[in-house]
Amino acid sequence: MSTLTKLALGVMGQLRPRPVKGDARATIKLPAPDKHGGLPLMQALAKRRSAREFATKPLPPPVLSSLLWAAFGVNRRGGGRTAPSAIDAQEIDVYVALPAGAYLYDAKSHALQLVAASDLRRVTGYQDFVDEAPLDLVYVADHARMKLIPVGQRESYASAAAGAITQNVYLYAASAGLATVIRAWIDRSAIADALGLGHDQQVLLSQTVGYPRR
Ligand SMILES: Cc1cc2nc3c(=O)[nH]c(=O)nc-3n(C[C@H](O)[C@H](O)[C@H](O)COP(=O)(O)O)c2cc1C
Repeated sequence: MSTLTKLALGVMGQLRPRPVKGDARATIKLPAPDKHGGLPLMQALAKRRSAREFATKPLPPPVLSSLLWAAFGVNRRGGGRTAPSAIDAQEIDVYVALPAGAYLYDAKSHALQLVAASDLRRVTGYQDFVDEAPLDLVYVADHARMKLIPVGQRESYASAAAGAITQNVYLYAASAGLATVIRAWIDRSAIADALGLGHDQQVLLSQTVGYPRR
């Protein structure tokens, strides 16, 4: 769908998900992430960039697994994560929009939990490529987990935490030969509706990931 059509539908509150492609499983247990190999950090940094042309080819489960672990997985005993958060509030949830449904990444069990049995990639942004790229991530702050942070600081702290996660995804993508772009030009209320978010939850950013279109 073109950006203009999406903008028009967004204004009318009509930017809606599509039916799922395939089987929307309630839980998808991810394979163990590959924590070895990959590009050396300085080479990944040298390759990091935004890309906006994606192939439709799906991400194989091992790639999705390593990508989500790199993004915000548990990386040590005690539940520490691959990205920082103020007072370790871990207030960012990573939602995973796939053709076969929208899922919440459960880092503790390294699994995806179904939140909407629809293909809501189209709803994750105004840019046309988000509809057909195989994966759109949505970063949502849960303000209920930030009670110890002064109210006026919560959004900026959560945005910083989400930014760290997006950079983890950029670096994994650079290492794995994937294309990605962080996106703030999104219809936050359409996304919140489609994901069924509550009052404490705030949609911050989205990020598309896929194989580069050749
Ligand atoms: C907070 C933030 C929001 C962004 N929003 C969008 C967006 O909505 N759509 C988009 O295509 N790129 C977006 N970008 C990506 C920037 O356009 C991109 O990072 C910039 O052009 C520099 O290119 P590079 O990432 O390849 O170095 C955003 C970047 C940041 C940091």
